[in-house]
Amino acid sequence: MQIAVLGTGLAGRTLAAALQAAGHHVVVGTRDPQASLARTEPDSRGTPGFGQWAGEHPDIGVVTQAEAGGYGEVLINATSGEGTLAAVGAAAPPPGTVLLDVSNALDFSAGFPPVLSVANTDSLGEQLQRAFPDVRVVKSLNTVNAAVMVDPATVPGEHHIFVAGEDADAKAVVTRLLGDLGWPATSVLDLGGIRSARATEMYLPLWLALMGAAGSPVFNIRVVTP
Ligand SMILES: NC(=O)c1ccc[n+]([C@@H]2O[C@H](COP(=O)([O-])OP(=O)(O)OC[C@H]3O[C@@H](n4cnc5c(N)ncnc54)[C@H](OP(=O)(O)O)[C@@H]3O)[C@@H](O)[C@H]2O)c1
Repeated sequence: MQIAVLGTGLAGRTLAAALQAAGHHVVVGTRDPQASLARTEPDSRGTPGFGQWAGEHPDIGVVTQAEAGGYGEVLINATSGEGTLAAVGAAAPPPGTVLLDVSNALDFSAGFPPVLSVANTDSLGEQLQRAFPDVRVVKSLNTVNAAVMVDPATVPGEHHIFVAGEDADAKAVVTRLLGDLGWPATSVLDLGGIRSARATEMYLPLWLALMGAAGSPVFNIRVVTP
């Protein structure tokens, strides 16, 4: 499958490399490919420069967000919450595209911990679906760290990942991609329509508290029923 990933941060590059390794053809979209490739120094969070990562992944093309939009059947949004609508707008995916949205509405402007810039009555997933009604938005993977997204077995035992979206076929496509990343079908919980994106996005304050308690971002939750 041809998959374009919007996002040069940890989430975007981790997903791109894992999906390419799983046999898909992947490109990464960025606002300015030349400027992104020129970044070779680690950022403030210690993430290595994108240019270094791209050099280590020569089979993954680096394109503009606009070029990424028309690349494949699946477009993954792994851009910051504040950049999400602009990035997908620049990509302008054609009607029918499956848009896997892994973003979170984290606002770090007042420091750490961040606050949510969208909550309660709305979510980034819903904003995307409203802004691009012909695209099939599926919210998933935003509730785990990038390392867990692509290697769920790194967390032992059974644990869960959520999907939310209006289109059953699009959720099936995403569920297959989750399978390619190592998520068994039994670990995928369908929360219904895209409105549930607000629930998984509002999990982030708890995720941050759990990271503090666990002392690591590598964890997940299991939903237990009688
Ligand atoms: N990191 C994780 O483990 C993780 C886990 C779950 C969910 N997420 C979510 O995934 C998303 C990406 O996270 P991240 O940590 O990989 O990186 P990030 O620093 O949150 O986002 C980097 C990406 O956002 C794009 N961007 C920033 N401002 C923009 C703007 N105004 N217009 C268009 N694009 C803009 C950048 O584009 P350029 O390439 O052009 O610079 C870059 O590709 C976030 O929403 C995050 O909450 C991350």
